[in-house]
Amino acid sequence: MRVLITGGAGFIGSHTVVSLIGSGHEPVIVDNLSNARESVVGRIAEITGVRPEFHRLDVRDSEGLRRVLDAGFDACMHFAALKSVGESTEEPLRYYDNNVSGTVSLLEALATSGVRFLVFSSSATVYGEPTTLPVTEDMPTGSAANPYGWTKIMMEQVLRDLQLADPTWNVALLRYFNPVGAHHTGLIGEDPQGVPSNLMPYIARVAAGLLPHLSVFGGDYPTPDGTGVRDYVHVMDVAEGHVAALDTLAGRRGVHVYNLGTGRGHTVLEVVKAYEETTGRPVPYEIVGRRPGDVAASWANVDKAAEELSWRASRDLAAMCADSWRWQTTAR
Ligand code: UFG
Repeated sequence: MRVLITGGAGFIGSHTVVSLIGSGHEPVIVDNLSNARESVVGRIAEITGVRPEFHRLDVRDSEGLRRVLDAGFDACMHFAALKSVGESTEEPLRYYDNNVSGTVSLLEALATSGVRFLVFSSSATVYGEPTTLPVTEDMPTGSAANPYGWTKIMMEQVLRDLQLADPTWNVALLRYFNPVGAHHTGLIGEDPQGVPSNLMPYIARVAAGLLPHLSVFGGDYPTPDGTGVRDYVHVMDVAEGHVAALDTLAGRRGVHVYNLGTGRGHTVLEVVKAYEETTGRPVPYEIVGRRPGDVAASWANVDKAAEELSWRASRDLAAMCADSWRWQTTAR
């Protein structure tokens, strides 16, 4: 299928482009490069042998999108969004504009062009504080702890309302848990600007000696070692989950919701230990106070994706650490 990939130069988008090419699809990237580099396109070509078409474009530019869409597409995967929790509390309007208005603009352009198959980047953040674990897709999506989380809840709602109004739409909401790692070649990965706010990119920089130590946010949660538990999932597994959704759901109208995780949780200290063991580098840490808005534990029930998409994450924490480290130590 010919697939428009918004945010295709970003972390999850770029890995998905690699998987799509490997599965015989034809992805076309649009990205405004606000948090990505154009050199990623060349890296994708190096990995796959195919240089995907690339347009530097913001999804809020409906006219520009329509011009790209004129060439004819079968589907769209929508990754383009801002994703920093902290930044979203400081600049909420920028988040609502980029994420929510950007999605509305994209949907208008898609509808005009006759493309009504969308795979959407959602997040486990829509579940808020989970009431039971593991988290299943039918759990209520509740209240978010920050504007970033609200934009994900709102974008899901926009898509549900659109599909109700026009049942010819086919929408997959893929709720990622904690995507980490990188392509095994080390050629593409997550490239946060400034000091990383997420755990694994931060650990990678500590292991590389670029940051002195990790601050572990909270040592008194009701978890096995007192630190937060998350469902870390390899970004290439997440990428393959998108291909599975595209291939399986084509032609099936409706709103389809899937968790993308491994189904098991790891504490912060388990991730630190796994990183040290995999890389042979020390990761000094200090336990500090809890980070506002963090939940104690979150991991996915992944049965639905397994049963309906025949997709299951296959890479373990050691592979996530090894690939993160390969990316950290590869020249950018
Ligand atoms: N953590 C630390 N120190 C750090 C960074 C993180 O101890 O320097 C801990 C957190 O407290 C948490 C765990 O590591 O227990 C994971 O934190 P991340 O920031 O990597 O990930 P989150 O689970 O907080 O956030 C992720 C996504 C968000 C999404 C959120 C909720 O990055 O986009 O899940 O679904 F909103």
